[in-house]
Formats: sequence, structure tokens, C-alpha cells
Amino acid sequence: MSQRRTGRKQEKKKIKMESLVFDYPKYLQTFELLLENSAEHQCMTDFIHTKLSGILASIGKGEPTLNVMGVGSGSGEIDLEILKVLHEKHPGAKVENEVVEPSNDMLNKYKTLISKTPGLDYATFSWNKMTATEFENEWKKRTSEKKMHFINLIQMLYYVEDPEATVCFYRSLLHKDGKVLVILVAGESAWAKLLKVYGHQLCKDGINQNISTKEVKQFLESKKISYQNYKFQSLLDITECFIPGDKKGEKLLDLLTEVIDFSKTAPPELKNGVLEFLKHPDNSKEVDGRILFDCSTEALLIDA
Ligand SMILES: C[S@@+](CC[C@H](N)C(=O)[O-])C[C@H]1O[C@@H](n2cnc3c(N)ncnc32)[C@H](O)[C@@H]1O
Repeated sequence: MSQRRTGRKQEKKKIKMESLVFDYPKYLQTFELLLENSAEHQCMTDFIHTKLSGILASIGKGEPTLNVMGVGSGSGEIDLEILKVLHEKHPGAKVENEVVEPSNDMLNKYKTLISKTPGLDYATFSWNKMTATEFENEWKKRTSEKKMHFINLIQMLYYVEDPEATVCFYRSLLHKDGKVLVILVAGESAWAKLLKVYGHQLCKDGINQNISTKEVKQFLESKKISYQNYKFQSLLDITECFIPGDKKGEKLLDLLTEVIDFSKTAPPELKNGVLEFLKHPDNSKEVDGRILFDCSTEALLIDA
């Protein structure tokens, strides 16, 4: 057989690692797995009802309408929790909510959640099925004078090309006492370290997987932008990742690496390296025979 034909055969065999984030139905499935196997949303909900509650009370006092925005809102559970507290603190105000979310699957779940949530008549929703950057361009075309009281960018800055520019643009939309809430994996969490160590070998397709709160804090400080930070400890049960061929374990690996079918498409040395990293005692702890991986997050509440 000629060398060219052998080369072509090898080319055919090589399987490309594909990014999970652009496959919206698969992304939604793995995101649901994260929520089922960690306390991520519980930590955020506790934060909204405690620390954030007082801050929401101080925003837009006495105004008839509060303008809020969720960017990368997903299926809306956290956004609705924020609206609930905002309404408790400002019972007489209407709330206009802009939702920016590129995934149809997520938006449909969000709309279903609204239809099942009673007592939301104080709020109106504008749906923008687009990315954060597309919305930025759209907003500039609208030449709107509208100022926002509260904007959330929760667990989504990984998917924009320039997180710093994105935070700056959305902050520029704030009312003078408004706030931007950013939540990301905490800089010192094992998940952030995993992406630091292996991010360059996983497929990125132009998205910035390596960002954590550490980088956001650095650029906020360099621009002298004030913020408060709150850390949430969160653990993800990854026990099944170590059972070869286990379907749930494979999905968890896709979630952690953000690669579709990571177990089947990653080169063996990368797969072994990732599994070793996940199990290392610096990154996971064993409780009652379960392996719990540190995926702690941090909230940054940025001033206008
Ligand atoms: C991890 S989920 C977070 C969802 C929600 N904020 C939460 O915490 O429950 C990330 C969300 O960002 C969305 N997303 C992906 N790329 C985006 C982009 N370029 N701009 C805005 N949102 C994006 C995804 O579709 C997904 O709904």
C-alpha cells in the first residue's frame, strides 16, 4: 500500500474532539446532570435569599419600573429566584426583564417554568434568542437610553470570546446604583485548575474555557472597578467517571471537559491525565464511597 493511502486511512480513523457548548440539546442534558449531582443551584439560591436580598432592596428604591437582564440565563430557575426577591423588596414596582440566551432548548424550558410559576404578573419578559455579543450589537442598533438596575452573567462568561469586554459592555448599561452579578468557577477550585492544566488540549473552538473569577477580579482591580465577592463551596459527585463504559460517567466527563463524547474522542494519554487529575486528593474527596470533585463557585457583585 502506498504511503499516501495509509496516511488517508489514519486520517479517517482520527476522531475530532468537538465542543459541547455548540450542541445545545447535549449541552442542556449535561447541564441538568450538573444540577442533579451538585448543590450548585442550591448555593446560588441561598445567596440570593441572604446576601443578595439586602442589595436588591437598595437598588431602584421608589421607582415604578425596575429594568433587569439575564445573559446566558439557561432555563431560568436562578433568574426567577432573583425576580422573586426583587419583587418582595419592591412590591409596588413593575419589572421588565430582558432575557439573552442563544439556546432554543433552554429558552423553551424557561418559558415552561414561567407558565408553571404563579404570581409573576408584576414582570414582563423580552426574549432575545442570541449570544451576549449578538445582543450587544442589537442593543447598539436600538440606541436605547434605557438603564438597567440589575444584570446577571451567571456561569456563562466561558462562552464569550472576550469576557473583559463583555463585562465592560454590560456594566455600561447600568443605572447609577445598579449592579452586575457575575458567577463563575472560583479561581482556586479544582474545576478551574482542570481547565488551566488541560484547557489547551481540549477543543476550544474560539471559546474561552479558562476563565474563572480570578481573571475577572484581576481585570476589575486593574480598572479600579469596585466589587464585592462571595464564595460558595460546591461538590460534584463524579463517582461514575471511574467505571469504564458507564453512561452517566461518560456524560459527567463531557460536562467537566466540555467535549462531546470525551471518553471516545480524547487521546488515551489525555483521558488518563484527566481521570488522574479528577481523583487526586487535592481535587476530590471521598465520602461514604462516593468521589466528590471541587467545583466551587464565586459571585462578584460589580458596582456601576
Ligand atoms: C452553565 S449554563 C448557565 C445557565 C444559568 N445562568 C444558570 O446558572 O442556571 C450557561 C448558559 O450560557 C448560554 N450561552 C452559551 N454561549 C453563550 C453566549 N455566547 N452568550 C450568552 N449565553 C451563552 C448557554 O446556552 C447556557 O444556557
